[in-house]
Amino acid sequence: MREITPDKIDKNVFEAIGKEWMLVGAQADGKVNAMTASWGGMGIMWNKNVVFVFIRPQRYTKKLIDAGEYMSISFFDESYRNMLTYMGKASGKDEDKIEKSGLTIIQDKAPVFEQAQMTLVCKKLYSQALTEKGFYDKTLTKTFYPQNDYHEMYVAEIEKVLLK
Ligand SMILES: Cc1cc2nc3c(=O)[nH]c(=O)nc-3n(C[C@H](O)[C@H](O)[C@H](O)COP(=O)(O)O)c2cc1C
Repeated sequence: MREITPDKIDKNVFEAIGKEWMLVGAQADGKVNAMTASWGGMGIMWNKNVVFVFIRPQRYTKKLIDAGEYMSISFFDESYRNMLTYMGKASGKDEDKIEKSGLTIIQDKAPVFEQAQMTLVCKKLYSQALTEKGFYDKTLTKTFYPQNDYHEMYVAEIEKVLLK
């Protein structure tokens, strides 16, 4: 693996996050888990290079994100599409997803997977749950939150960018 600075990331985020998807990984108390995500972004906040991710309260990964200081964001090539589909369906509440996925962990402050094309090791800076009141477009709340399970938004600083 080699390290680059965030300004050298040459991915189109609309493609990489929205279409190819990412894996959000976290670890705490000796447990590691990850889930697929396709909503989020990368940008600048408080003069820092950050990622934004949005996690529903029922995700097991959220428990680990909340318990730890770091999270990882990983991107994979197209050959890992089935793995991402699995990681976006099964829950770490019920099974050991890392073992079943065949991913190999290279230890860091947050889970770094050997198979990932690019990994961002990110330190949590801020989190807050979206609220019904915050929406200008109320059709979004009807469409996406009929069960009131508003996403928690996390802003996390990109501390390290690793390429395979
Ligand atoms: C393509 C795709 C994108 C997803 N994006 C998100 C997301 O951005 N936020 C979220 O909370 N869940 C998202 N999910 C759902 C979680 O990945 C899914 O509920 C997963 O089983 C949670 O795993 P966990 O309980 O082990 O954390 C997505 C699922 C798929 C298949």
